[in-house]
Amino acid sequence: MDYYVIKGGKKLKGEVEISGAKNAALPIIVASLLADGETVLKNVPDLMDIRTMIRVIEYLGAETEFDIEKNTLRIRVNSIKNSEMPYELVKTMRASYYVMGPLLARLGEADVSLPGGCAIGERPVDIHLAGFEAMGAEIRLEHGYIKARAKDGLKPATFVMRQVSVGATANLMMGAVFSKGKTILENCAMEPDVVDLGNFLNKMGAKITGLGTERIVIEGVKKLKAITYSVIPDRIETGTYLLAGAITRGDVTVKNCIPEHVGALIDTLKYAGFNLDVKKDSIRVSNGKNLRGFMIKTLPYPGFPTDLQAPLMSLATTIPGISVIIETIFENRYTHVGELRRMGADITLEGNIAIVKGVKDLMSAPVMMSDLRAGAALVLAALAAQGKTEIRRIYHSDRGYEKLSEKLLSLGADIKREKGGTF
Ligand code: EPZ
Repeated sequence: MDYYVIKGGKKLKGEVEISGAKNAALPIIVASLLADGETVLKNVPDLMDIRTMIRVIEYLGAETEFDIEKNTLRIRVNSIKNSEMPYELVKTMRASYYVMGPLLARLGEADVSLPGGCAIGERPVDIHLAGFEAMGAEIRLEHGYIKARAKDGLKPATFVMRQVSVGATANLMMGAVFSKGKTILENCAMEPDVVDLGNFLNKMGAKITGLGTERIVIEGVKKLKAITYSVIPDRIETGTYLLAGAITRGDVTVKNCIPEHVGALIDTLKYAGFNLDVKKDSIRVSNGKNLRGFMIKTLPYPGFPTDLQAPLMSLATTIPGISVIIETIFENRYTHVGELRRMGADITLEGNIAIVKGVKDLMSAPVMMSDLRAGAALVLAALAAQGKTEIRRIYHSDRGYEKLSEKLLSLGADIKREKGGTF
């Protein structure tokens, strides 16, 4: 399997273009199943997870054409061929679960494998299922598959999510588009990815209001039409490159991004003492004087995003003084801590609280990715560490970072993607 060799210590300098948002593109690709005809999606990042989702919708009968040079994905649908989503696909990528909403909306039935947990936590889907039940679906578990039936279609309902869930908000919103009447979802996720999905559905002819607030109202319509749509830029990729500039004490400008989508990170970097120059669609980060430790708590949007917690921790390991990071979204999202300690980081874990004491230099060491964002954290740490770091299992970062090594090379990083490697 491929691995990275990164020679650290170089200040990153220059400009980097942000790709389309993985977590907006994934539900939008599935939502295209709600309309017959040809949907054209632009600014779709070429990622493992996107290619998996393309396989998912092809399994349900869609025809696709992905022009990776132009990041344009054409999806042709004429009726959905089946209502089952097999274990192999759901196990490969949990977001396959998004098919439940469109299948129930269009066919009134869905047999979807129950996703297992993953490295960062158990990740149940009880809120998705409770919402579909509130909308009239009959749900039962059979041999690892959730069998959902709503023979006369999902009904309008009012449903309060027991906790904020990006996936459940997206899934239930897609499920409600054809319900005859008004469906009200309370305690919704306000993530830009969910808003982008809602904007896509409205452009198809859905009637959704309240996007970006806790309360989303979906007025059912008869039909949706296939459209052309461009996916928003990826806020987590945006934050990752800002952190790459900061951890190497360089001078990096992130282009074609939406600064307000990373407001919590911008505030954190300013507090830590970095210089930030924020323009309409670009953000420049450069080194500041008197850097100091910070405290963050991961929260649903617009709070600090859990997906930037690991990359931020890498930065914290190099900042003089103490930083405190509290992870409140997932129960096991510190898998990067052990690997960072191998590189000389001084991190103490107390439950979901990480106390990070800055060290003068991180050291290179052979390390291994355990999940997508923990992988990004290791790449950032390697960029700052003295010496050559080998990072294994980089297929994790291939899931969510388009052209990672090429983009870092363009910023002056000394990174090579090597073939082979035993594990
Ligand atoms: C989405 O996952 C993202 N994935 C995650 O990004 C992101 O970390 C997460 O939202 C939080 O922002 C995609 O968009 C494909 P949740 P999702 O439902 O929808 C619990 C990445 O790196 N929960 O908001 O699965 C859940 O266990 C990935 O790109 C239930 O208990 O997240 C978690 O503790 C990682 N029951 C919390 O809620 C449910 O039915 C938030 O999960 C659903 C969720």
